[in-house]
Amino acid sequence: MHGHAQTSDIRTAANILASARYAIALTGAGISVESGIPPFRGEGGLWTKNGEPPMDGYQRFMADPAEGWRQMLDRRNSDDEFSRKLAEAVPNEAHLAMARLERDGVLKHTVTQNIDNLHAIAGSVLLTEIHGNRTKVRCIDCGDRRPFADIDMSSIPPACARCGGMVKTDVVMFGEPIPRDALRESDEQAGRADCILVVGTSAVVYPAAAIPEMVLQNGGALIEVNMDPTPYTRHATVALHGRAGEILPLLVDAVVAARTAT
Ligand code: APR
Repeated sequence: MHGHAQTSDIRTAANILASARYAIALTGAGISVESGIPPFRGEGGLWTKNGEPPMDGYQRFMADPAEGWRQMLDRRNSDDEFSRKLAEAVPNEAHLAMARLERDGVLKHTVTQNIDNLHAIAGSVLLTEIHGNRTKVRCIDCGDRRPFADIDMSSIPPACARCGGMVKTDVVMFGEPIPRDALRESDEQAGRADCILVVGTSAVVYPAAAIPEMVLQNGGALIEVNMDPTPYTRHATVALHGRAGEILPLLVDAVVAARTAT
């Protein structure tokens, strides 16, 4: 639970958020752990258990898209633990807290590395999914995104409903460039921010991991909520160590208190 230090740190973080001109957030797999989805690194991480995946998934997909689609559909329909947990997961208190901060006008934008769609289900709208979204497909020719459910799967690989081009999962594969629209939007948001709330990311994967650095370079404040130390912990204005599902609701309450106090 929270010692006295944590409570005062939460109040300090809340004051920074409440008085920020343009606060944004960057989230990673850690924010979804309490929804039952394992992270990638650290304790219980998928890469910790199985080793990092091959870095040429995108190149292999492009070499044989039909086979790539067949493998992807098999994975989605498989009842392996990770697929099942992804399909069953619901937002936890941390996602709901982020959506509340957005609704209250405190959080101007969230960039997430997660593909689990939980921020959207929780109600976050001002959102950039920099690694894509598992419930969507994306055309690599025209960039059109739409729900998986809307795609005509009678032919594999499915053709884009808008331009007839090549459609793939919206999830950014290893070796695949980050879609230009997502990259541009996350860069723009980072450039505008005077405060960033970094939640549940080991901050080692780029370009997402460069976002907090941009905010620090612009003299902005960094609030970190994480279970383990990261490369940003020592640069954080406030580093809150613990579970996002416990800390974020406390942070939201403290922000509400700080805003009513002023
Ligand atoms: N609350 C807060 N933080 C947590 C929790 C929790 N309940 N559980 C774990 N964490 C922290 C861990 O300490 C770790 O630092 O969340 C972080 C998760 O780090 P990663 O597993 O590396 O996830 P992420 O940073 O999102 O990975 C980035 O790597 O493999 C790629 O595309 C994948 O988007 C992913 C990217």
